[in-house]
Amino acid sequence: MKIRKAVIAAAGWGTRFLPITKSMPKEMLPLLNKPLIQYSVEEAAACGIELIVMVTALGKREIEDYFDRRVELENMLTEKGEHKLAREVRCLCDLADICYIRQKEQLGLGHAVLSAKSIIGDEPFALFLPDDLFEYGEVVLRRMLDICDRHNGSVIAVKPVTEAEVSRYGIIDSRKLEDRLYQINDLVEKPPPSEAPSNLAIMGRYVLTPAIFRELEQVPPGKNGEIQLTDGLRRLAQREPVYGYEFMGERYDAGTIPGWLETTAALALRNPELGPRFRNYLNNLLQRTKEPTISP
Ligand code: UTP
Repeated sequence: MKIRKAVIAAAGWGTRFLPITKSMPKEMLPLLNKPLIQYSVEEAAACGIELIVMVTALGKREIEDYFDRRVELENMLTEKGEHKLAREVRCLCDLADICYIRQKEQLGLGHAVLSAKSIIGDEPFALFLPDDLFEYGEVVLRRMLDICDRHNGSVIAVKPVTEAEVSRYGIIDSRKLEDRLYQINDLVEKPPPSEAPSNLAIMGRYVLTPAIFRELEQVPPGKNGEIQLTDGLRRLAQREPVYGYEFMGERYDAGTIPGWLETTAALALRNPELGPRFRNYLNNLLQRTKEPTISP
């Protein structure tokens, strides 16, 4: 069955970026010349997703404006002979159909997913947490869509992390089926290393069957009334197969300041136009910072 729809959860507060997120959505932070959220939209479009349900909240209007047309800008660029830029600006609006749903209270990721229920309906869908960027995002999602189709179940992107890192992630308890593919028995949210059932951590890409909505509706609200996606996934794994796909390549967390810096640096180094100059700059900078500081 072709998966046509995706949900992008973009309603979080972005407190780790305050004060800038006081008046600017975290999803609009730049990674080179694109906002963070564009990477998820492009990835979805490249994998054949036709409709994106963007779950947003108060203060996130800039996201809607960004993916809308700006005809005067296109005309101005065309008149100036900047045809490539004009095309680029125009193409943004044609990546996929995007509809926006407001999560009226930020009651957790599970609640955000549940807000998309009426638009997703009774079909499987991809779920993106846009803070997470994958080196081979398109390849990873294609593979996950394929696993969902072949094995008839939900799929979660997972990656091995170090013992010190397990307490920052949802961790899966699973049985290996084949190379890079696991059947999930259970999931534990942020366990202390001594209680972690494995070192396989959940990262921000999912392909979910619509049964997740029924489970999320049953999840009792936890701390601050929040409904956690992990709790819904735990219930789902008891009723139908849920798989973990161990993806290849790097994953960057642009949702924290150090992670955003690392993501920016990685993208700049990989960029054919910026890469050589930036590499050179970094090498010089590292060389200079090694030298003892001379007081003026
Ligand atoms: P995070 O836990 O990273 O929270 O959410 P956040 O608000 O984005 O960032 P901080 O922690 O305040 O700095 C994980 C994902 O779930 C979405 C976020 O937008 C992010 O994609 N989310 C979270 C919602 O859509 N709604 C919520 O109520 C909570």
